[in-house]
Amino acid sequence: MTATDVKVRHFTRVSDLLPDELEQLLELAARLKQEPSAYEGALHGRTIACIFEKPSTRTRVSFAAAAAELGATPIALSPQELQIGRGETIADTARSLSGYCAAIVIRTFAQRTVDELAAWATVPVVNALSNEHHPCQALADLLTIREACGGFAGRRLAFVGDGGDNVAHSLLEAGALSGLDVVIACPPAYAPDEEVLGDARRLARATGAMLTVVEDPREAIAQSDAVYADVWASMGEEAEHDARARALAPYEVTEDLMALANPGAIFLHCLPAKRGEEVESSVIDGPRSAVWTQSANRMPTEAALLLALTQGFES
Ligand code: CP
Ligand code: NVA
Repeated sequence: MTATDVKVRHFTRVSDLLPDELEQLLELAARLKQEPSAYEGALHGRTIACIFEKPSTRTRVSFAAAAAELGATPIALSPQELQIGRGETIADTARSLSGYCAAIVIRTFAQRTVDELAAWATVPVVNALSNEHHPCQALADLLTIREACGGFAGRRLAFVGDGGDNVAHSLLEAGALSGLDVVIACPPAYAPDEEVLGDARRLARATGAMLTVVEDPREAIAQSDAVYADVWASMGEEAEHDARARALAPYEVTEDLMALANPGAIFLHCLPAKRGEEVESSVIDGPRSAVWTQSANRMPTEAALLLALTQGFES
């Protein structure tokens, strides 16, 4: 087999992985979290292009930190700094960057931009958030849930708010692959994308995960081991903020709602958060909140991802 026969692996959405590969990633992330120097220098001398078309605090810095830990140099790039901003195509950008970089990380608007980049790149492409998916976030979320709950089978995550949210979509796929039950509580007008839900349900047949959508946040939170909130208006949806806030007001995760969850249940949020909208301050800043662990878990999961995509999964 020649080098060109080896299929480049991308991470455009969680379902790019097989269940076993997801498990490998979480194992590797746990090891890197415990022993950050375990793979010191594994990507020495390599470069990671990080294109950010939207703001980012956690993803931008955790990828840079993960790359540094592995010995690679990350380069943060905005569209204005790239010829993309002057109309160069994604295909030409992908082929050029592939000549210099070990991987390309991109945060953008449409998922099709990520998919097009992946179609043309000859190095791994990582989706650092699109309007439709936020798969890197889901890796950190799973690691956090596994640490808190000891595993996924028979455990339940309730995502409360905008079911069509990128984070919600990635959590559905993460549940499908890991065996974690995921219930989304949302108004019917803010339901998950039907295709994403349908595909995730098909994948879930292999692991037995139950993926459900309900309207009542109380029903979702009852008997859940983790409760998750995200902003009601995602990046790019700011103009819809007021309409969304009206429709989603009953979905604010309050202490009263959290009280319905299982004893020991944790609260999760991808951040940034709007206290007093999707979550009450006393919940996100309270004893059940695992958001800082969750946020910190971005780094080992992304280091594991960069390693696995560039060096291969075990078969
Ligand atoms: N959770 C997350 O992706 O945060 P940033 O937007 O700050 O990267
Ligand atoms: N759904 C949010 C996630 C931010 C990390 C957004 O897209 O803005």
